Amino acid sequence: MTDSAKLTLGPKETELKLRHGTIGPDVVDIAALYKDTGLFTYDPGFTSTASCESKITFIDGDEGVLLHRGYPIDQLAERGNFLETCYLLLYGELPTAAEMNDFTYRVTRHTMVHEQMSRFYTGFRRDAHPMAVMVGSVGALSAFYHDSTDIADPHQRMVASIRMIAKTPTLAAMAYKYHIGQPFVYPRNDLSYAENFLHMCFAVPCEPYQINPVLARAMDRIFTLHADHEQNASTSTVRLAGSSGANPFACIAAGIACLWGPAHGGANEAALNMLAEIGTKDRIPEFIARAKDKNDPFRLMGFGHRVYKNYDPRAKIMQQTCHEVLTELGIKDDPLLEVAMELEQIALHDPYFVEKKLYPNVDFYSGITLKALGFPTEMFTVLFAVARTVGWIAQWKEMIEDPHQRIGRPRQLYTGAAQRDYTPVDARG
Ligand code: SDX
Repeated sequence: MTDSAKLTLGPKETELKLRHGTIGPDVVDIAALYKDTGLFTYDPGFTSTASCESKITFIDGDEGVLLHRGYPIDQLAERGNFLETCYLLLYGELPTAAEMNDFTYRVTRHTMVHEQMSRFYTGFRRDAHPMAVMVGSVGALSAFYHDSTDIADPHQRMVASIRMIAKTPTLAAMAYKYHIGQPFVYPRNDLSYAENFLHMCFAVPCEPYQINPVLARAMDRIFTLHADHEQNASTSTVRLAGSSGANPFACIAAGIACLWGPAHGGANEAALNMLAEIGTKDRIPEFIARAKDKNDPFRLMGFGHRVYKNYDPRAKIMQQTCHEVLTELGIKDDPLLEVAMELEQIALHDPYFVEKKLYPNVDFYSGITLKALGFPTEMFTVLFAVARTVGWIAQWKEMIEDPHQRIGRPRQLYTGAAQRDYTPVDARG
């Protein structure tokens, strides 16, 4: 096993240490590069940069593998449940029955939010995008829960983590209810995490809400599929915000803001809108051509991934879940699903997509599933944020508890003006 690399600059040779992970690529430790050589590295999209050491999630993009603390995503999604995955991400091991009961008890009893929060919502327009409401309301939690913002206190860090996992679904459901003009529905401690979320979103005061166990199971699995994903853009945002010592609620709000982008978590909403725009199978070739046209900014939403150069393992499970939900709801021949499946088949055999290794990602089928569950497209990324909150908070905790942690402060390649003197306005051309 090689333990070092050599950088030759003219007559000077600099030795760089290699560090080895459990699995996956080794890294070249360049922490002293600037001190030793006066050079920065340059990697604007971080395509070849490991920003941290982590034990939480591993992705093998070429093989289409996703592990959470070593457990494959398909096993967790099919045999476990979301709260169990939350425990695994936070604590590093699958819980015993007693640990699971205690964790479930703690999360369940933090699902209510301060009653003042409901007045906070009335400041938003009813037609505000629910993601705008989520950025605001999650950030506002730091105004209500001062007793869990001291990041130096392990107890407060865990309380803040539990509060985030517990309250994000409540805030998300409130954003949905406010958006559609219906009264907020309080969480219920007798329901599971997914059942409670569906109840808070779809129950109304006038009649009992019947929870469909098949749909609740699908919702739970969708949460598990979105729980964490290594150092993606929003998780890196949370880590960078947390590296300054910002409180966890503010860091998660920053993660939500980043997730909103259509290149990231906003792709599920964009993918469904794209399928609706395509409308029918006969129009697919027109959109495939646009996706390949360098002069056209259009991209196939829900396709491609920075890391996966194979099928996103989550997309496979999402497609199965999509079929389960449509079957349970008796939705036959969903035109959007027909377009999606035909589009997938065409793209997977088109040389452009094959050469660039563009496969469906987690966002490709999630929109059809969420629409069938009754959510409007503008809620899709909110649901992604609800699920990803545990990943963000687990990664944030790992960073805060890393003894070598320092504030993140990248450098740059400067190509602007060299130093020059100020000229008075009457001397300018
Ligand atoms: C998520 O990082 C994560 O882990 C994210 C995520 C998570 O769980 O946190 O997995 C969730 O964000 C999934 C990705 C959702 N986004 C989309 O579905 C939007 C559509 N996809 C693309 O915008 C794109 O594929 C990205 C943003 C996902 C990845 O972008 P990269 O890695 O920067 O790749 P790129 O843009 O450099 O593309 C490489 C080539 C380019 O062609 P060339 O310039 O080399 O000729 O592939 C082309 C791109 O034009 N390409 C596409 C395409 N995606 C990439 N062409 C058509 N349609 C697409 N979807």
